[in-house]
Amino acid sequence: MALNTQVLIADTKNIDHVAKEASRLLKSGELVAIPTETVYGLAAQIYSEDAIKRIFQVKGRPQDNPLIVHISTTDMLDELVEDVTPDAAKLIKAFWPGPLTIIFKKKSKVSDTITCGMQTVAVRFPVHPVAQKIINKTNIPLAAPSANLSGKPSPTTAEHCFKDLNGKVPLIVDGGPCDVGVESTVISIVSDIPTILRPGIISLEEIQAVVGNARISSDVFRKVGEKEAVASPGLKYRHYAPSCPVVMIESSSERYIEYVNKNGNSTECAMCFEEEDGMIMIPHEKYGALNDPEEQAHNIFNLLRVLDEKGYSKIYIHAPRNEGKALAVSNRLIRAAGFQVVSIND
Ligand code: TXA
Ligand code: MG
Repeated sequence: MALNTQVLIADTKNIDHVAKEASRLLKSGELVAIPTETVYGLAAQIYSEDAIKRIFQVKGRPQDNPLIVHISTTDMLDELVEDVTPDAAKLIKAFWPGPLTIIFKKKSKVSDTITCGMQTVAVRFPVHPVAQKIINKTNIPLAAPSANLSGKPSPTTAEHCFKDLNGKVPLIVDGGPCDVGVESTVISIVSDIPTILRPGIISLEEIQAVVGNARISSDVFRKVGEKEAVASPGLKYRHYAPSCPVVMIESSSERYIEYVNKNGNSTECAMCFEEEDGMIMIPHEKYGALNDPEEQAHNIFNLLRVLDEKGYSKIYIHAPRNEGKALAVSNRLIRAAGFQVVSIND
């Protein structure tokens, strides 16, 4: 049966009231979409097995893709994980609260439904004040994947959540557009070398400055098959994909402009950098300045949704750089393109 989905705006005036209502629903085993600094999350309290199962149903999420548990004090961590290693302690001190998810060995009371049978649990302490308030008031950690239907771009506004979840959840908390715009950096400290399993706005270089020998999993850079065993199951599934074909072009600005002007047509759209805006002859949308990965990250998921709704027959994307903070952006976009890449050398 379809639910009546309420959207409540959590601004400074009524944040207490909204957090109270959200926590009432969460405590009673309902799902609530909540804002975080990265993307919106579809939250359930971790001790309601039924609610956790409903997260998978509502999203159409594959049964082997584990959820991130969200906390609002470092004390809550004791309830979830066996051991905070020295590397984990350094990462926590440097980046929490904030857009970094850390994978630990789990305590047995964290259910297999959350971790999909893995012996590890992903934990995140968001910095968003509304997320913190809701977790605090609930006083139970919250499992929350991104609040999109599986396969769609993660939601960065309450409107995106409403489009995907209307009739499926009782409450969406509107905390305004998300600052960061792409999901958290996921790092595992379970193996000897801290390993990034999903790039995010906290970059490898920033992490290395704190723990020295961190690396990025090679799975991040390749197309992983659905039947493969990988460190982070989320890497296996097609993500962020508009319904039309998407192709990513790796080239200079000059070559990109030349390519889309020659190969594109008026039913197609080119995602470009601000600096290229005036020179492209087919429909185009800019997603940020060439050297501003934070601006790009902030815009891409909204733009992918907008372009999908406009019904273009094909989308070209000028690839951002493949390093530093921009890796978070290029990684999302190459997945939107299903790893269809054209490389043009000068
Ligand atoms: O920014 C974010 O992380 C957002 C907000 C809502 O916090 N959440 C989010 O969740 O992006 P989700 O479920 O869309 O992505 C979680 C990722 C998946 O790729 C999943 O495979 C991975 O984290 N993951 C979760 N638990 C894991 C574990 N125990 N071991 C390895 N990977 C894990
Ligand atoms: Mg997701």
